[in-house]
Amino acid sequence: MILEASGIAAEKLRAIDPGALPVEVADGMIENVIGQYALPFAVAVNFVIDGAEVLVPMAVEEPSVVAASSNAARLARPGGFTTTATAPVMIGQIQVVQVDDVEAGARHLREAADSLLDDARRLVPRLAERGGGPVGFDVRILARPPGPDGGVLVAHLHVDCRDAMGANLVNTLCEALADRVARIAGGKPGLRILSNLTDERTITVRCRVENEDPEVRAAVASASRFAELDPYRATTHNKGIMNGVDAVLLATGQDWRAVEAGAHAYAARTGTYRPLATWRDEGGALVGELVMPLAVGTVGGALHSHPSARLALELAGVDHADKLAAVAGAAGLATNLAALRALATEGIQRGHMALHARGVARAAGATGDLVDRVAAELSACGDVKPDRARDILARLKESP
Ligand code: MEV
Repeated sequence: MILEASGIAAEKLRAIDPGALPVEVADGMIENVIGQYALPFAVAVNFVIDGAEVLVPMAVEEPSVVAASSNAARLARPGGFTTTATAPVMIGQIQVVQVDDVEAGARHLREAADSLLDDARRLVPRLAERGGGPVGFDVRILARPPGPDGGVLVAHLHVDCRDAMGANLVNTLCEALADRVARIAGGKPGLRILSNLTDERTITVRCRVENEDPEVRAAVASASRFAELDPYRATTHNKGIMNGVDAVLLATGQDWRAVEAGAHAYAARTGTYRPLATWRDEGGALVGELVMPLAVGTVGGALHSHPSARLALELAGVDHADKLAAVAGAAGLATNLAALRALATEGIQRGHMALHARGVARAAGATGDLVDRVAAELSACGDVKPDRARDILARLKESP
């Protein structure tokens, strides 16, 4: 049914068969390949994002992420999730060390900013044709001499990467400019690499849950305030957001480590680790807002070679990077809502345990309708263990 809704031809779905990534292709992606590693690939439903129905592809090993986000997305209808993306600007860093006079070095670099930007633009003419390219250049002083590295400056090159995640693009530009930057600053070139703190490339996602039980509404808002007050809680709150975000990123072949690194640095940008999403009880509705950096691409990267990742984009109807960020962000806000509702009401374990019981039943050898029957007995007795599952299964098989 889900696949019918996607309108994607059945034969295309072979792209999610376990053998869809041939070992020769995998061997071309990374080194020392000995096989492929499979994860469940699922579709979360009920999502309305910026007014359109979206099937949300997810690759994840954790039970209940898909069901819980689909459930939360249903609660957020009919308005669904609305999103706003900044321009897809990434930051490249060029470090300059051993600068004797850092003030003069920084001044000279600022004076040369336009000319350096012109150099950078000449290196990426095709990006400029697509409306992107280098858009800014600035300098910060990191250390004054004396010190192990002498005076240290860092130049930031800001690059609008359009639909690319942009790592290769930005790294190439930084490497190309580094010698000239160091010469102008009066020092030696150090590292030249993008920053994963992509705080200029953020997505904001909002949703509104009407008709929520007033007690649940108040409890979710209170859970949000807990995360706003306490980094220990904020970390787990954000983990719940990343359950949805990472599942989408993994399914769509993105560099999820980059997004993870950026998300947590962004969460700590004020000096205190804070939640990426907050919830308020506003005039009878529960209103959620997520703001986070989400550097993703719909061209380049693993998408060249990974058939399931390309299919995932097609399933979600994603044709540009902003939309992919919107889908991942909406999934994150949905998994956050689902977790907070469960925690604030019955606790997380009951739902988790019911799903876990099915896994344990299967692992004990149950098939067909025996999976649900064994799982139901396991949940009812509260002892969700393999030994118990085997006993129940043996009994049910003896007297069906
Ligand atoms: C578990 O994967 C995620 C939660 O811990 C998130 C949260 O506590 O908000 C349930």
